[in-house]
Amino acid sequence: MRSRALIVPRTRGELSLRGLRRAGWLRTDLAIRTEGDRLVLPIVADAEPLASWGEVAERDFEPRPAGGPTDYRDRLRWTSADRALLPRSFDVIGDVVLVRLPPGLESRRDEVGEALLAFVPGARIVGWDRGVHGPERRRRIERIAGSGGWSTRHRENGLAIDVDLERAYFSPRLAREHAVVAEAVRAGDRVYDLCCGVGPFSIAIARDRRARSVVAVDANPAAIELLRGTLARVAFGSLVTPVVASVEAFLPGREPVERVILNLPHEGVKLLASVARAVASGGCLYYYEVVGRSEFDRRADVIATGLPHPPGWETAPPHVVHPYSPSADLVAFVFARRTG
Ligand SMILES: C[S@@+](CC[C@H](N)C(=O)[O-])C[C@H]1O[C@@H](n2cnc3c(N)ncnc32)[C@H](O)[C@@H]1O
Repeated sequence: MRSRALIVPRTRGELSLRGLRRAGWLRTDLAIRTEGDRLVLPIVADAEPLASWGEVAERDFEPRPAGGPTDYRDRLRWTSADRALLPRSFDVIGDVVLVRLPPGLESRRDEVGEALLAFVPGARIVGWDRGVHGPERRRRIERIAGSGGWSTRHRENGLAIDVDLERAYFSPRLAREHAVVAEAVRAGDRVYDLCCGVGPFSIAIARDRRARSVVAVDANPAAIELLRGTLARVAFGSLVTPVVASVEAFLPGREPVERVILNLPHEGVKLLASVARAVASGGCLYYYEVVGRSEFDRRADVIATGLPHPPGWETAPPHVVHPYSPSADLVAFVFARRTG
């Protein structure tokens, strides 16, 4: 059967599959196939633009052999109209499942929770994700099935990361971005990971062992405590220096370094000029922002005009990290400071 397809190198297969499943974009009625050393993944027709994930094309697929339900909503004895109100996607973080419930379905939340608990292999607890709040971007979660707390260990890019979904920010939707930034680090680079959360950028960078040093900074002590827990379990842990501090308190007097990451999507723009001063000549700034789709083309140029050292920056084409809302995406901007 003919279908839209995402074609990725095998080395990116696990990451891409996880991202597609989470977004609800993988077609589960068709069998994944290979082309040489690339995987050909069948995707739904209305998947968001995926150009930065790999090649998007049309391909023929064999049907997938019939098994159990391929959609958690099929476990609910609801009318198809009611089922269609539920999101087809959800997040899996370690043994925790998080789902966002639309208004009006609160009274049926336990049924949704039980359906997800039975559907997701290895799930221990299911939470209704009420979104992140406050400067520390902590998640508000209500348990709707299963038992235990929100502390778990999540596997991302082949690494096990300590997380506590209520005490410190973590999103599995950033996994691919963590890998992309880590891959770009050159031998001997020094890194500041600002607003590091539980440290997934720092951990991925340190694991590759090209960086000379990584300083991971966050104002939330719980985030840094979790990062310390992860670092204590891995052989490369000593490469990362975790620091509890605000970016504003950390930066003054710091030596500029080759890679600076600023991941504070809603308020980071206020810190951007001072953060950009911490980028050494020849270095790179990775900056993340939620951008309305209509602004996407112009936003990088607008941001670049606010950077210090003019005209000393090359602007790479921005890329979408993940959809954020029906009209906006989380977007990655990479600014390279010219040498000299
Ligand atoms: C979007 S989360 C970062 C996620 C992390 N970089 C990742 O990839 O998972 C933003 C983080 O910034 C921290 N934060 C907020 N304001 C801050 C500030 N002024 N200085 C330092 N950290 C801050 C929050 O505690 C939170 O952990």
